[in-house]
Parts: sequence; C-alpha cells; structure tokens
Amino acid sequence: MASPLRFDGRVVLVTGAGGGLGRAYALAFAERGASVVVNDIGGDVKGDGKSSLAADKVVEEIRRKGGKAVASYDTVEAGEKIVKTALDAFGRIDIVVNNAGILRDRSFARTSDEDWDLIHRVHLRGSFQVTRAAWDHMKKQNYGRIIMTSSASGIYGNFGQANYSAAKLGLLGLSNTLAIEGRKSNIHCNTIAPAAGSRMTETVLPEDILEGLKPDYVAPLVLWLCHESCDENGSLFEVGAGWIGKLRWQRTVGAIVRQRNQPMTPEAVRANWAKICDFDNTSTPQSVQDSTGSMIGVLSKIDSGGVSTNRTSHAASTTTSVFDEAIGYQLPPFYSAYTELEAIMYALGVGVSVKDPKDLKFVYEGSSDFSCLPTFAVVLAQKSVMSGDLGAVPGLSINLSKVLHGEQYLELYKPLPRTGKLRSEARVADVLDKGSGSVILIDVYSYYEKELICYNQFSIFVVGSGGFGGKQSSDKVKETAAIPNRPPDAVLTDTSSHDQAALYRLSGDWNPLHIDPDFANLAGFDKPILHGLCTFGFSARHVLKQFADNDVSRFKAIKVRFAKPVYPGQTLQTEMWKEGNRIHFQTKIQGSRDIVISNAYVDLVPTSGASDVSTTSEDGELQSTLVFKEIGRRLKDVGHKVVKKVNAVFEWHITKGRNVAAKWTIDLKSGSGEAYQGPARGSADTTIIISDEDFMEVVQGKLDPQKAFFSGRLKARGNIMLSQKLQMILKDYAKL
Ligand code: NAI
Repeated sequence: MASPLRFDGRVVLVTGAGGGLGRAYALAFAERGASVVVNDIGGDVKGDGKSSLAADKVVEEIRRKGGKAVASYDTVEAGEKIVKTALDAFGRIDIVVNNAGILRDRSFARTSDEDWDLIHRVHLRGSFQVTRAAWDHMKKQNYGRIIMTSSASGIYGNFGQANYSAAKLGLLGLSNTLAIEGRKSNIHCNTIAPAAGSRMTETVLPEDILEGLKPDYVAPLVLWLCHESCDENGSLFEVGAGWIGKLRWQRTVGAIVRQRNQPMTPEAVRANWAKICDFDNTSTPQSVQDSTGSMIGVLSKIDSGGVSTNRTSHAASTTTSVFDEAIGYQLPPFYSAYTELEAIMYALGVGVSVKDPKDLKFVYEGSSDFSCLPTFAVVLAQKSVMSGDLGAVPGLSINLSKVLHGEQYLELYKPLPRTGKLRSEARVADVLDKGSGSVILIDVYSYYEKELICYNQFSIFVVGSGGFGGKQSSDKVKETAAIPNRPPDAVLTDTSSHDQAALYRLSGDWNPLHIDPDFANLAGFDKPILHGLCTFGFSARHVLKQFADNDVSRFKAIKVRFAKPVYPGQTLQTEMWKEGNRIHFQTKIQGSRDIVISNAYVDLVPTSGASDVSTTSEDGELQSTLVFKEIGRRLKDVGHKVVKKVNAVFEWHITKGRNVAAKWTIDLKSGSGEAYQGPARGSADTTIIISDEDFMEVVQGKLDPQKAFFSGRLKARGNIMLSQKLQMILKDYAKL
C-alpha cells in the first residue's frame, strides 16, 4: 500500500476554522502531524460579533487528541497578525487554507454598499491579506501550498448572492495568478468550490441532504492539494458528498467577422452568431497566451487578407463538421504576374548568394541562362491560401488562428518563364479528419497562357477541428515518402541570414510572426520564426545543386512535410539520398537533432543521356552483379543449409561514385534462400552499403569485411552483429 500522506513538520494556517469546513480541515491536518493555527473571529454567519470560543474549542479538540495547535482570533483582514501567530508559535508557515466566510444574501436591487463591501472584505480582501503575509516566507523556503475557497454561486451565479458570487469568483482569479507567480518558488495555489453541511447551509438545505454533505467529505481533497507530493497548481475543483470534479474553460471555434480595411459591423456579428456560439467543436484554452495567441493569429489572418466573413445566407448553416459542401469547391481564378525582379527577390529570400558562381543565374537577369527557381511556383500559387477566398468556401468553417501549413507538393510541367502572368485555379480537393485536427487539401493548377505549367497541393492543418467523423485518408493526397535507412548520400548546409525572413516576406507572406518580435512572443515563440516555405526553398536548392547541377529543366516535383520551426540565422542542413530519379531528403538544424522538414523528396527528370544510374539500369557495368548472380546460382543447390545457419535477410546497396548504383538482396531466411536484384521484399535484417570496387576486394579476400567496416568503407545498418556471418557467405558462395 502507498504510504499515508503525512504533514509532520509542516505548519498549516486555516482561517475560519472554528466550525464547519475549516474545523474539519484543521482536525485532519493535525491528525496527520501538522502544527495548526486555528483562526476564527467567532462571529455569526452574517459577520456580526466576535468570540474566542470557536477557535479555542477546536484547538482544545486537537490537543486532546495529541495534536499541535494554537488559536488566532483576528479577522482575516489582519492577515499579518494571523501569520505572525503561526511564526511565533511554530517558526514557519507552509500551508494557508483561506476558508473564512460569511453571507449577506439579498436580491441584487436590495444589496447595500455595506452588504457588498463586507462580503468582499472578508472573502476576497481577507484571502489577499492572509496570503500576502505568508507569501514571502513561502518564497524564501521555496515551498508553499495555498487554497482559495470559491463557490458554485460564483461559478454559475445564484439568485440573491450577487455580492457573494462576485467575491467568490474573484478568488478564482486571484488563485490563477498566484499559481503562475508562485510556480517557480514551488508555491502552488488551487481553488475549491465545496458543498457541505454547515451553519451556512443548514437553513437552505434539507437535513437528510446535509447529513450526506459532511465537511469530512471535502477535507481529503484539501489535504491532497496541500501535500508536498501533489503537483496540481492553478486548478479549480468542485467537491462534496465524496465526489470531486475538475473544471476548466471551454471555447467555441468562433468566427472572424472582420475583414482587412473594412469596418466591423453588428450585422456581421449577427450573421455569424450561430457559429460563434456553436459548441460542437471546442478548445480548452488554459492561459492568457492561449487567449492572446488566438487573437494574434486572427490579426495576422486579417492583416494578410486571409479572411472572408460568412455571407449571411449560409452563415447559420456552416459548422466545422459539415465539409461535404466544401469538397470540390472551386475558388475564383486568380492571376499572379511577375518579372525578373520578383524571381530574384524570391531567390535571395531562399538564400541564393553570388558567392557561388553557379547560383548567379538565379539573381542576375543579365545571365545568359537566367532562370526562376522552380519553387518560386509555390509563391505564384499561394494567393488562394493567403487571400480571403478560403473563408468564403461554403461548409468550410475554420478557426483561422489554428491554421498550420502542414505539407506542400509542387509539380512543374516545364520551367517557369523568366517573366509572366500565371492564371491559377484552386479547388478544395478533400478534407480529412485527423482526430487532433482536420487537413484541408487545396489543389492549385496554374496556367501560362493556355498551357498548364504547374500544380500545387497545399495541405492545411487546422488544429482542434478534427473528430467530426470524416475519413482519415484520401487518394487525393500527394503522400510524403520515408527516407532510406542508410546514411545520406550527400549533405549540403547553408546558414540563413538574420534577415532571411525579412527578405523572404517580400515575396508575399506578410505574416508579422516572421518579423515582429512582440508578435512572435505573443504567439509563443522566443523571436520571429522563418517561413516554412523559405526553408523549403533552401532545401530544394540544395537538391537541385547536388543532383541536377542547378538545371531547372530537370526539376519535376517536390513534396515536403513541415515538422518544426526554424529561426533566421540558423544553419540548415539538407541530407539527401538518391534512389534513381527520386532524391529523398530531410532538413535539420545543424548541430541539433531537430528535423524541420521530414520525409521529403524531389523527383528529377531523367537526363537524356541516361547517365543517371539506377538500380535497374546500367548495372551490367558493375562487377558485383556477376558475384550476386553466382551467389544466387549456388544457393539453389545448398541454400537450405545456409538458411539454417544464417537465418537473416541482407540488403546490399552497391555504390558507384556517390550514388547507389544497384541494390541486391540475399535472403537467407525464407525457403532455401535466394539472391535477387532489388530491395528486400519484406524487411531486411541488415543493410550493407559498399562500393562496387570494395565489394570485389572483399569477395576476393583482399579486404577484410570487419576492417572495411571499421575504416568506414563498408557501412552496415540494422542488426550489425549478423554481418559477421557474411564472411562465411562471401567466402564460400561468392567464388567466381
Ligand atoms: P461556516 O460559517 O461554518 O464557517 C465559516 C467560518 O468563518 C466561521 O467559523 C466564521 O466565524 C469564520 N469567519 C467569518 N468571518 C471571519 C473573519 N473575518 N475572520 C476570521 N474568521 C471568520 O461556513 P462553512 O460552510 O464552513 O464555509 C466555509 C467556507 O466555504 C466559506 O468561505 C464559504 O463561503 C465556503 N463555501 C461553503 C459552502 C457550503 O456548502 N458549506 C458552499 C460554498 C462555499
């Protein structure tokens, strides 16, 4: 059994402990080893009169049972005096339970100034005074536990208790802030809304119910919240009759009812009222940051023109769970005109530098081979997502402050002309339900004159709007692809400049999140972050440089997933793997393990000379091919014996230069074994990467595989121990 919760050595101050709930707390703390200050003014339920009797009786009761307690008869408004009693008697103060209270119930119209003030003085000001007096002591000792006592009247309102409910909810606000300010000093503050039989409730509740609402059924929660092992902080609980529940705020998705450069009108509020009040899809904000963060997101959307208020005609019927109307919706066509200026500005925005002479063609219009970077095509197509048109899609009711750019696909059918005007058509391809959010797929087809020049798919993730019972996948999705399970074939790095986002935004993404420090802070970032599409541009450049010699005509398609934010000034490291004409890549922040773009790839147009060596072509040139074929032949005779001994599948990546030129699999696990060209049909136990030349040296006994491994000439992935068995296979079965 878990050890009992003890309070030995702790000093607890309970206000209003002469009766009711406070008495139950005082007795329970004392019984578990705490030294208790029993504070009570000893007046009546309306706050009139005073007497030492109430506190004395409880102190006596505690002492009789062998506990430690002293009395305090001061009003809670004299907080310093009460805390001094604790310090004088026990030398410290660890726990404060703000419990003292009175009632002055009146209908609102009849509430006098005195009724109002007195209630506030005892409940709200009293809790403030006592807690403030204890606060510094708690901070110094780096420990404190505080309870505020609220009430269902405060949370929900109650007829005749305007003064009381106002003060009681005030205590929740006080507690919430103390929880934040105290956190770093290990001071926790929580609020309870109890229900218990006491003199306060005996006149309003029937006797049998009062019997079931013993103060003893509230005290255990208070003790747990005040124990040093309890991490709860800044929470609100309803408690009574042996039941405890936690409360939190809930918020609707809401609606943005304002557009950039347009007045906000009460009519727009009316038109969106159903949506504003629709609790079908809710979030549970937990901090001021959650609150302002949402507003900031809204501001940025409005600022970038990304909002269109619902038209009255369909406002009432739109909800986030009805996407049928949205799927297939065709947005109005739009035009993007550009000259070399915009293309160069984009290139500089994604890190092109004249430092590399081969990059000059992207930033100097006088270059004989001046070219637009292929990824510039995303900028030309993004108006559909950046402008307000998305908000006008019927059935698409999204909280724009929760929108993230999840993934991006771009396919180019021919290089972008150096200047031009593209006409784009966008439509909602599908809406997916991912549980924690929804994914909206926007397909954008862009035409130069009459010719389709590129296709973009924007995957927009809307946080918190999932769970509407929609499908989880779609054949419309352009899928990402996992990176190969081997060290990258090439790595390129580039340090983004501190002004990178400032430069990139000139290409049309004006979100202040990328430039304004205050704005970024409010959105929860230390400083402005780089645009995801800027990182995307860096990575695509790396692939183009490494594998296509900056030849834009070889760029066919790109797919990325945005995984983490990047800060301007960080060094981006693109890790690349060549698999035929597909270059898999992922982008990291150099020096960290953070992957900022994951499971991405670029598809290249094969060169006409077919110099691109893939697993299925040109391998006749490889010497290793003969060896693998021979291994296959021999296995046909003796395979079953080897399978018994080895029981593993080996995948070979034979490299030529920097590229994987062929893949072979030696399956010594199933049947009587076999060797075949290509990756393992199931999963490989060990993957071995070795050059064609080194492979030949190994099979000819000139190079010891273990030495090759330790010198880095042979790389092994997966179950490396198994590769020890390779020697046997290669020695016995690879003889030519
Ligand atoms: P109670 O009337 O039995 O206990 C309150 C105690 O506070 C009394 O002993 C009283 O003498 C003392 N007190 C009043 N003014 C004081 C002052 N200025 N300084 C020091 N002590 C003072 O009432 P009960 O029911 O035990 O209430 C305890 C707390 O729980 C109160 O804050 C009350 O508002 C709250 N509460 C109680 C509910 C219930 O169902 N009993 C419901 C919701 C809230």
